[in-house]
Amino acid sequence: MELEGIAQRIKEKHGIPVTARDVARVLGAALTSADIWRIVDLAGLPVLATCEGLQAFAERGWVQFVDDRVWITAEGQKTAQALGIGPIQELRCPRCRGRGLELEPFRSLTQEFARVAKDRPEAAQEFDQGYVTEETTVARIALAFARGDLAGKEIIVLGDDDLVSLAAALTRLPKRVVALDVDARIVEFLSRTAKAENLALEAHLHDLRDPLPSELVRRFDTFFCDPTESFRGYLAFAHRGISALRGPGGAGYLGLTRLEASLAKWQRIQKALLEAGAVITDLFPNFHEYVNWPYIETMRAWAFLPVKRVPGKFEPWYRSALIRVELVEEPRVENVRYAGDIFTDEEAATT
Ligand SMILES: [Fe+2]
Repeated sequence: MELEGIAQRIKEKHGIPVTARDVARVLGAALTSADIWRIVDLAGLPVLATCEGLQAFAERGWVQFVDDRVWITAEGQKTAQALGIGPIQELRCPRCRGRGLELEPFRSLTQEFARVAKDRPEAAQEFDQGYVTEETTVARIALAFARGDLAGKEIIVLGDDDLVSLAAALTRLPKRVVALDVDARIVEFLSRTAKAENLALEAHLHDLRDPLPSELVRRFDTFFCDPTESFRGYLAFAHRGISALRGPGGAGYLGLTRLEASLAKWQRIQKALLEAGAVITDLFPNFHEYVNWPYIETMRAWAFLPVKRVPGKFEPWYRSALIRVELVEEPRVENVRYAGDIFTDEEAATT
């Protein structure tokens, strides 16, 4: 079948495992919107795979690229219909944006967080940064509260351009919050704000490629991280988080996209989490929405986009799932050094 051929082409050209069903989803996304970022979001595949799929559609006359839009053609409509492919409807609950959380009790946190986050450092490409919306950060804290992972707990945040540590500490519920980041601007911002607001928050400069300092190992109840998504990079964050937990009952919150991680990579990551002694208790698709970062035009995927349009700062297209894990065994991770580039692999798009 033709979609299988396109899937094969994507695999050969980019080394990204995709199925005919994935290619059908790209066509469905193109039926739904002419906007490249909406298509990328709805297709839910590594960005380069979606771009290659669209190129293959264009060669078959199913879509046309005009200015910065992707238009489905009559031929494309006919093909979709013959294959039983229709537009994608997310059917997302508009009240909670699909997170299933009531944020009303966190209204004052939302306001306080907005006030202190105003002067936050801008996302830097050097560290693969790109932070989530303020509402997303508050929702993460609300979920941790609901799961019993916040009040009275010792919390560590590994890489914190999202300012999760700040939002957690602003609730004044945790016993202690520690943030580690490789970016001196973020450490300085968190430390300064913690002092000004009298928060139980400390921030330290730390490169997560290096082992966790011994005084932070097995000391915490909860960790948060939003890892870079190469497999090694993901482990660098996830394993450090798990090694920071005291033991069974400790919980972790991690982000994971479909846009830089194929389901094959999801499988490897899930296996690694299970092997480390954890179980996945919750998984919320598209929980995290990201504010567009200032280096869109120099990110890896830009060159592959069939049409090029810089999205507005608050026009979210990059979303990721939130995964909650809980240790059911003693943590089984090696606190080893990760040498070299932990940011890039064949599925990377935004690095
Ligand atoms: Fe809802």
